Amino acid sequence: MLVLVAAVLIVVIYFYYKNAFAYWERRGVPTLQPSFPFGNMFRVVVRMESVNDKVCEIYNKMKSAGYKYAGIYFFSRKVFLAIDPQLIKCILGKDFRHFNDRGIYYDEENDPVSAHLFSLSGPKWKTLRSKLTPAFTAGKTKYMFDAIKSCGDDMVQLLENLMKLDEDIEIKDILARFTTDVIGSCAFGIECNSLTNPNAEFREMGRRAFTQTPGDVFKMVIIRSFPKLAKLLKLGVFSPRVSRFFQQVVEDTVNFREQNNVTRPDFLQLLIQMRGDASLNNLHNDGNNHADETCGDGLTMNEIAAQAFIFFLAGFETTSTTISFALLEMALNPSIQERARSELADVLNKHENKLTYDAVGELQFLETVVLESLRKYPPAPVFLRKCTERYQVPGTNVYVEKGLSALIPAMALHRDPDFYENPECFDPERFNEANRHKIKEHVFLPFGDGPRICIGMRFAMVQSKLALAQFLQHYCFTLSEKTQLPLKMETKGIVLTPIGGIWLKFPKSSL
Ligand code: HEM
Repeated sequence: MLVLVAAVLIVVIYFYYKNAFAYWERRGVPTLQPSFPFGNMFRVVVRMESVNDKVCEIYNKMKSAGYKYAGIYFFSRKVFLAIDPQLIKCILGKDFRHFNDRGIYYDEENDPVSAHLFSLSGPKWKTLRSKLTPAFTAGKTKYMFDAIKSCGDDMVQLLENLMKLDEDIEIKDILARFTTDVIGSCAFGIECNSLTNPNAEFREMGRRAFTQTPGDVFKMVIIRSFPKLAKLLKLGVFSPRVSRFFQQVVEDTVNFREQNNVTRPDFLQLLIQMRGDASLNNLHNDGNNHADETCGDGLTMNEIAAQAFIFFLAGFETTSTTISFALLEMALNPSIQERARSELADVLNKHENKLTYDAVGELQFLETVVLESLRKYPPAPVFLRKCTERYQVPGTNVYVEKGLSALIPAMALHRDPDFYENPECFDPERFNEANRHKIKEHVFLPFGDGPRICIGMRFAMVQSKLALAQFLQHYCFTLSEKTQLPLKMETKGIVLTPIGGIWLKFPKSSL
């Protein structure tokens, strides 16, 4: 009997996969031969390469065969890979109504912090996005500048102390602590002190939120495959400890500020102001997401916690990665480092030796260094959109069906020699005034594009430039032999991460 059941099961699974793996071919979409049961992801599953490596490989193969798009299988899951920049432009921008979701699972009821701007879709996302946008203007970023700078000063102090030990320093970890402190201060209104205490609870929780235990992987498989069952079982996206921690921090801080009439120039304050605003809540119990967008009761405590949480998650690792790679390239290219330092000296001269918001804004060459780092090492090397309305690929008879994901291969575009001459070379001049306009549309996507472009882009640029300026102001740096070259990236995780970290030597600068 058991043998019979097993045989039937094998036959069912075989036909299921046979049918699933014929999907793209049936639709006339070019694809690569999948293998049972991994689809095109065998080497990713066994951690021999990252999703990004695989996507770059498929992009290069398909593009050189002349295709503008391709079909990929993640196990039996079908994903549409956009290759042509014009098609990417349509998906992200012009035809946004077909792709306004990311397809990220959230459960407002059982895991309230999962219902944030990154995961929401439809009118709920639209209303929240327009509510949060004013928190990210140049004026608001300027308003938070002193808080960012103060964390930068702590970082300089920490480096000062570490240098006394006369050892090489792994900067990725220090920068993750710096950006944790910045977001902790700006989004949660608290001093996390992760620079002074590497095991501070906030940093610990940040690490935990980005680490997948085997239990998390199992949970994600259930969430992906059976989202209704996941809701029934009350499976939250994040570990209950992480969710509770962030909810509690927000609740305590909001209550404290309201009871003591305390205000601070930060995101949390702007979110608190939205508490009384009319416009969001009556979207909540509308399963169809079709509620009137202009009336309601404002943000609840859980919603405030969810937004603060995503600012933290989306902001700390991406920004610290950007700064780390910029430092690495400046260590590898001393002439670029010297030019950035000399620009800084000129600007500081004009600003009474003070690193102010306006001074940072004048660091044009440093900005090209950051942009070139984002090109060569986009922290989010691939990102997804979910098809929300059946989509006809322009100029073809091919349709992307509702519910499928479209994958945008940012890193593959950034390293494509058709768009960037000698793409492996770190050359900030690509982004100078004279050259910037020569870059083709939609081949530079470190922050995404269209209505769902990164909301924290300006904040991230200011924070990155400020931190780099503080490094340049105080130190000359060179590469330590401990950095493993050529760089190899971790095969797990979402954000681009170099294996072994980035190690620098820091003799004192003369500026
Ligand atoms: C260098 C640093 C950063 C990089 C490279 C980056 C990259 C990205 C990318 C690629 C997306 C997806 C865009 C798309 O789908 O078109 C995104 C979305 C987002 N980012 Fe960032 N990000 C950075 C920093 C930040 C910071 C500092 C914050 C908040 C303070 C933030 C908050 C968000 C949010 C909330 C979204 C979702 C926006 C929406 O769906 O409406 N990011 N980011």
